[in-house]
Amino acid sequence: MIDLDIRPIRSDDVAEVARLDGENLSAWAIDHFSRAVSSPHGWHLLARAAPDGTLLAFICGQILDDEAEIHKVAVRKTCRRQQIGRRLIRHALAYLHGLGARTCFLELRATNLAALNLYRSSGFQRCGLRKKYYTSPLEDAIIMQGAIGEEQQAAGATPTA
Ligand SMILES: CC(C)(COP(=O)(O)OP(=O)(O)OC[C@H]1O[C@@H](n2cnc3c(N)ncnc32)[C@H](O)[C@@H]1OP(=O)(O)O)[C@@H](O)C(=O)NCCC(=O)NCCS
Repeated sequence: MIDLDIRPIRSDDVAEVARLDGENLSAWAIDHFSRAVSSPHGWHLLARAAPDGTLLAFICGQILDDEAEIHKVAVRKTCRRQQIGRRLIRHALAYLHGLGARTCFLELRATNLAALNLYRSSGFQRCGLRKKYYTSPLEDAIIMQGAIGEEQQAAGATPTA
């Protein structure tokens, strides 16, 4: 299994993160990532391969009081199905628990089976549907919610934003 070095995204990582995101539907522009990284309510982590430093994945969202959101998670296309997404989400939930979050919401394209399975197996449950929410292509959004409990904290991530 690849060793992961997971830490918050810094402003000098943003261009590289945006390039990785460019592999996916609904990719964000660099400016969008810059705003997310500097937002007072934003949280954001990346995973690099240890020890060579290759960017493998990132995850970002926002947190308000005890409620967090995941806005994006992506794993480098050539490195998928190696449990990187699952490990990053597990780490992120522990990190969010350390920041005080106790519940987490997210939305995803209704046809995104990979993400749906990943989130389900990470403890999220469907709690709503937004019709025709996504464009290019037009698609419904599934809304999911997950509890963030002590077991996530036990996964061992320390907030170092
Ligand atoms: C969704 C995504 C992050 C998954 O990352 P990953 O590192 O490949 O996922 P993992 O290897 O950790 O897989 C964990 C579980 O997710 C599910 N999964 C992952 N890829 C899958 C696929 N292609 N088809 C079906 N299920 C899949 C499986 O349940 C898997 O568990 P298993 O390996 O025990 O079967 C990745 O496919 C990705 O970056 N997609 C593009 C961006 C995206 O859609 N992000 C989510 C919406 S914001």
